Amino acid sequence: MATEAQAQWVLTATGRSPTNIAVIKYWGKRDEALILPVNDSISVTLDPDHLSATTTVAASPAFPSDRMWLNGKEIALSGGRFQSCLREIRKRARDVEDEKRGIKIKKEDWEKLHVHIASYNNFPTAAGLASSAAGFACLVFTLGKLMNVNEDYGELSSIARQGSGSACRSIYGGFVKWCMGKSDDGSDSMAVQLVDESHWDDLVIIIAVVSSKQKETSSTSGMRDTVETSPLLQYRAQTVVPGRILKMEEAIKNRDFESFARIISLVEKWNHSEGTPQVAYTFDAGPNAVLIARNRKTAALLLQRLLYCFPPQENNLDSYMVGDKSILSSAGV
Ligand code: ADP
Ligand code: DP6
Ligand code: CO
Repeated sequence: MATEAQAQWVLTATGRSPTNIAVIKYWGKRDEALILPVNDSISVTLDPDHLSATTTVAASPAFPSDRMWLNGKEIALSGGRFQSCLREIRKRARDVEDEKRGIKIKKEDWEKLHVHIASYNNFPTAAGLASSAAGFACLVFTLGKLMNVNEDYGELSSIARQGSGSACRSIYGGFVKWCMGKSDDGSDSMAVQLVDESHWDDLVIIIAVVSSKQKETSSTSGMRDTVETSPLLQYRAQTVVPGRILKMEEAIKNRDFESFARIISLVEKWNHSEGTPQVAYTFDAGPNAVLIARNRKTAALLLQRLLYCFPPQENNLDSYMVGDKSILSSAGV
């Protein structure tokens, strides 16, 4: 029985996780509940100063239920994804002792203790910049810290995957591969680090935010529609992606920008005029362009050109019609 003094305590942990942007995309699930993908994917984890989720989790005997606030607004935890992450971390919880405050929590107590979770993203949420990746990686990591979980990063990545697929890759920095795995229970579907953040530190990632509004189609429902309606998805997953994964891994290991880069429009013209590619680009499920410059000098030129072609404007028809294009961040990786 908790004494009245003990019933007052609140134990907290805070963590921060960056988002990641895929260069070989995850698109399509073979199992919706466990979040098992139809293909391997590769991403780069960004710098947490610019695009990250910060999450504080608190446990107290005074909390009658689990609750969560996202960017200051309460959201329902009833969705299966939050429940999966909470369940999997609680299962692995261990004893916690705070001698100074006289708090002792036995591992079996965690099943009954409720948590309050508050998370903030320092970039647009649900706008195609992978907030679900930063958010669920951070949630799992921080809950793990609170409950003194001892699991390795592979295991944590597998739990984060059950919150949002792309989240399994945000457990690591640098370039990361999510191995789709073969098993039905998802135990081998987790991320591994290919190279750490120091390996290719010339690269500069610039994100041009065309719209920070919540996208109309979530990644989850977009990929569900693709699985249900596209005869090309299986072809992509089985025939196209495996070869590209190998090429991309090679390019990353060798810091081979020519092989790494893909081109369009402004980027395309520039790369053609230079002879060798200077800038690579990618989009996630949303309108916002992610541009990857091969080094800082190129990044400075790219920023100049972007600001010239798409000057940030407010409250005029043009920018209303085409969206509030602005440069959100320029982050070294
Ligand atoms: P995005 O392109 O931003 O990843 P998604 O549609 O994939 O968009 O995911 C958005 C959802 O991710 C949100 O509705 C919310 O459920 C979850 N999410 C976003 N940020 C966080 C966070 N910091 N903590 C927990 N969950 C989050
Ligand atoms: C286009 O991970 O957001 O960003 O697993 O349903 O939560 P759920 O989807 P999510 O999808 C990401 C799709 C993508 C590509 C990628 O990150 O690999
Ligand atoms: Co997402």
